[in-house]
Amino acid sequence: MKYIPVIKLQEKVDERVQVRGWLHHVRRQGRLIFLVIRDPTGYVQAVVKPKSVGDTAFKVAEKLTRETAITAEGTVKEDDRAPYIGIELQITAINPVINYASPELEYEIRPDSGPQVLLDKRHLVLRGEQASDIMRFRDHLTRSFRDFFYSRDFVEVTPSTIVQTQVEGGSTLFAFKYFDHDAYLTQSSQLYLETVLASLGNVFCVLPSFRAEKSRTRRHLTEYTHIEAEMPWYEFEDLLEFMEDMIISVYTKAKENPILKKFNPTMEVPSKPFEQVTYEQSIRHLREYGIKGESGKYLEYGDDITEGPERALVDKIGSPTFLTHFPTGMKPFYMKLNTENPEVMNAADLLIPNVGEIIGGSQREDDLETLLQRMREEGLDTKPYYWYIDQRKYGTVPHSGFGLGLERLVQGLLNLDHIRDACLYPRLINRATP
Ligand code: 4AD
Repeated sequence: MKYIPVIKLQEKVDERVQVRGWLHHVRRQGRLIFLVIRDPTGYVQAVVKPKSVGDTAFKVAEKLTRETAITAEGTVKEDDRAPYIGIELQITAINPVINYASPELEYEIRPDSGPQVLLDKRHLVLRGEQASDIMRFRDHLTRSFRDFFYSRDFVEVTPSTIVQTQVEGGSTLFAFKYFDHDAYLTQSSQLYLETVLASLGNVFCVLPSFRAEKSRTRRHLTEYTHIEAEMPWYEFEDLLEFMEDMIISVYTKAKENPILKKFNPTMEVPSKPFEQVTYEQSIRHLREYGIKGESGKYLEYGDDITEGPERALVDKIGSPTFLTHFPTGMKPFYMKLNTENPEVMNAADLLIPNVGEIIGGSQREDDLETLLQRMREEGLDTKPYYWYIDQRKYGTVPHSGFGLGLERLVQGLLNLDHIRDACLYPRLINRATP
């Protein structure tokens, strides 16, 4: 007899089947033992009765503990009262147990365990329903992004994450010795994506980026999954429209996912055009809405819009919003200055309720002299960037791109309180274990 995946049991009512998996729950009720068997496809309730399995097998069943791996045989019965899939498996035989799970687990992870315990035990927490739902949903999102990019004929590339140039400022660089040389863990693959525009056209990557973030917030990791794309011939307006189409496509698919329904039943797919607020307008709006900065004062033109006010602003607006045209100098050297007003840049962050910024995007500075000038203003030594600068010497064209933090999107869509729950093994200021 073949092993039947839990998800297929509804097609096998009244049949005798074999299943294999792990014991998600074990509960005794008088002379009955109720099990919840988990396999990668789902959960099913099973019941062990002495008269169905015989005394010897029942004794085996009495010793079963949570997370024990078992293979068992039983009859599939429809039962509306059974949790999960309305099926109860009436066990007829339990095969010799491969490995009894140590009973300590019950004491290690409890619903009231604090965040540090849950992070220490992340390798076991990942067996839980909530954590595995989040991981599956994350996978669904990554696929949706890839599908969208492929539908627009993008090519996926994988630039190295070991680099010798910075992208997003020196303060969040992880530096290390690469044999005899200084090197960094990449903050963004953007500059490398730009180097293949002239041959591959539209490109994207899904890779880790690293930020030595000193701040402890509920949306910062030191390593995160960065979905980045770069498109030749795209001016600023084309970029905004592309990001809208991408978000609508990904949200539409997410809304059909039953996991999203569990976590965020009222989620709405935004429609085009998204709200747009320039940096200058946002400073005024913050004042109008009574939203102050972390210092307790209203922000002034030129101040960075930090996490708190940024989130409060988009929560107030209530739908995905582009925050555009930041003052020149506030954002990195590669962003294109607005031709009508070089005091601002053709840049747009996409903010969503509950999280704030999920995307940082911009048109890129395609003029060699302006780029070099901006690099000097930022105090960058241009030498290590020779390969990037060459792009402006050999056939430079208007182009744009963006980077999206996958964990922030998961956090926003699933209404998670903290970004750490959106990654397999979160890397935080005080944690690189397990
Ligand atoms: O705005 P950022 O810094 O932009 C860039 O890195 C560009 N070079 C990307 C590009 O244009 N290709 O980061 C982009 C996004 C942010 O909007 C945010 O979602 C995410 O990356 N992000 C983080 N996510 C988790 N933890 C952190 N410490 C993050 N820093 C940025």
